[in-house]
Amino acid sequence: MRLVFLGPPGAGKGTQAQRVCAARAIPQISTGDLFRAALAAGTKLGLEAKGYMARGELVPDAVVCGMVGERLAQPDAASGFILDGFPRTVAQAEALDAVLSKSGTRLTACVDFVVERSELVRRLSRRLTCRKCSAVYNMDVALPKVQGVCDRCGGEVYVRDDDRPETVELRLKEYDAKTAAVSGYYAGRGLLRQVNAARSLTDVASELDLIIARP
Ligand code: AP5
Ligand code: MG
Repeated sequence: MRLVFLGPPGAGKGTQAQRVCAARAIPQISTGDLFRAALAAGTKLGLEAKGYMARGELVPDAVVCGMVGERLAQPDAASGFILDGFPRTVAQAEALDAVLSKSGTRLTACVDFVVERSELVRRLSRRLTCRKCSAVYNMDVALPKVQGVCDRCGGEVYVRDDDRPETVELRLKEYDAKTAAVSGYYAGRGLLRQVNAARSLTDVASELDLIIARP
């Protein structure tokens, strides 16, 4: 199974990708998580991405596509993956098709997480994230058992810098300008599936599991 999870910031891509990947033992490839890890490690890639992320802008296509190409070449991605937050431009979608066709594979489906704007802003204002393993929490619907400590790895749970309201606004604008068109790209190829992601965590999980079972 080779899936793309598409949707605006705060739609629940990471939350659902973590659940599905754990159940199916396939890697969750989140470009945002990869950049945050590179930034924490102080690598050249992290420094390259830093300014864009802080401003809520997309990192240039060439940088992202190179990173994803390398990640997809790793052995654990051979039996399937979920790409969470990639592709985010039509150019990235075309680059992904090229990488997959070189290895003789293709995407199974692109799942578009649909949620209205006010709910996205609300969710992001309440999100908590594990600094170590990127597990996602929420002050309203999914708190860690021990305050400030990740249930999964014991890491520190924090508020992402780009979850400040002014940066969230910029990320949403960037989504409208550059990423919304990606759904049309996959619709044109018969690969687009939409999930109503505005509902509860369990309702979204149920609908998503049906889509995945019969993509
Ligand atoms: P990235 O880390 O990918 O951020 P994003 O796409 O903005 O998405 P989020 O992680 O904010 O949202 P999500 O959909 O994963 O929601 P989540 O599950 O956490 O990217 C960060 C930055 O990196 C970008 O701005 C860019 O600079 C750069 N970047 C990354 N990829 C790139 C690319 N391909 N090209 C260029 N640049 C790139 O859920 C949100 C909250 O809601 C959580 O608190 C969760 O608990 C809660 N929640 C989830 N589902 C529900 C529900 N059903 N009901 C109630 N609450 C819910
Ligand atoms: Mg995410």
